[in-house]
Amino acid sequence: MAAFALSPSSLFGSRISEPVALISSKPPSMLNFKRTLLIKISCDYSCLEVKDVHYRPPGTQINLLNGVSFSLPEKSFGLIFGQSGSGKTTLLQLLAGFSKPTSGSIHIQRYTDEGKPNQSPKSLVPERVGIVFQFPERYFVADSVLDEVTFGWPRQRGGPQLKDYLALNLQRAFNWVGLNGISLDKDPHSLSGGYKRRLALAIQLAQVPDLLILDEPLAGLDWKARADVVKLLKHLKKELTILVVSHDLKELEDLVDRSWRMEMGGFLREEQLMVYFQSRLVLMHLNDAIP
Ligand SMILES: Nc1ncnc2c1ncn2[C@@H]1O[C@H](COP(=O)(O)OP(=O)(O)O)[C@@H](O)[C@H]1O
Ligand SMILES: [Mg+2]
Repeated sequence: MAAFALSPSSLFGSRISEPVALISSKPPSMLNFKRTLLIKISCDYSCLEVKDVHYRPPGTQINLLNGVSFSLPEKSFGLIFGQSGSGKTTLLQLLAGFSKPTSGSIHIQRYTDEGKPNQSPKSLVPERVGIVFQFPERYFVADSVLDEVTFGWPRQRGGPQLKDYLALNLQRAFNWVGLNGISLDKDPHSLSGGYKRRLALAIQLAQVPDLLILDEPLAGLDWKARADVVKLLKHLKKELTILVVSHDLKELEDLVDRSWRMEMGGFLREEQLMVYFQSRLVLMHLNDAIP
């Protein structure tokens, strides 16, 4: 079973290679028999790359997304904000593979230490993307936590090895999101708001995703649950690449590595949160100044 254990780092390749002996021009006798080891740190990394994506739903005349491009390095936290109806959820749906871009590409690209692409880009496989929808608890279908979590698991195919592997990952997912104290018999609908979100996350984390997407993860929660979810995302960020759509910019600010604003018509622009907050402040002062 251990052979199937999957660590998040195995997805992106080991970052620390085997120790190698220090290369020295001195003969071994001059090294005073001291065996010095050098840990070779490899900084190669993966990056989600979305290039010039347009999307027009079949049978319609209007593009919902127009030339969307952005990149998100592994284990970083990206935030997309913007007005309602601008196309944020549409973009997430493309990333999760629910629909295909009309044009443009969505890939994972690996880079060398020097920042050069070191292999051809790979498609982002929908099965390797975890998506937590807005208000995920509305879609709970089972009457026990165990059934809810295993709902999408293979029934016939896969065999015991796959199920062992999934069970192991599920255990880890429960630990990650702090659900390990919860009885598996419990009705998911009876959990508190924050615990429902944790459960929705655990379901997605059972197969460690290359990309974890969350659409408005704080919406509808009370202040305590919101703070819990923010803390949880901070913890998950150490292991996963996370892309969030949210209006709750202040609460997420500390976690964000990259941020973009989606403008009406499906145009995505990189915008640092600090710049956004400053522009809001200026607007507020202007409004106060103009009678
Ligand atoms: N399948 C569809 N066909 C036509 N219009 C759509 C479809 N899905 C969403 N829209 C429209 O696309 C726009 C963007 O929607 P959405 O991505 O949900 O925005 P956001 O998540 O930013 O609020 C909205 O005007 C919405 O009504
Ligand atoms: Mg939306």
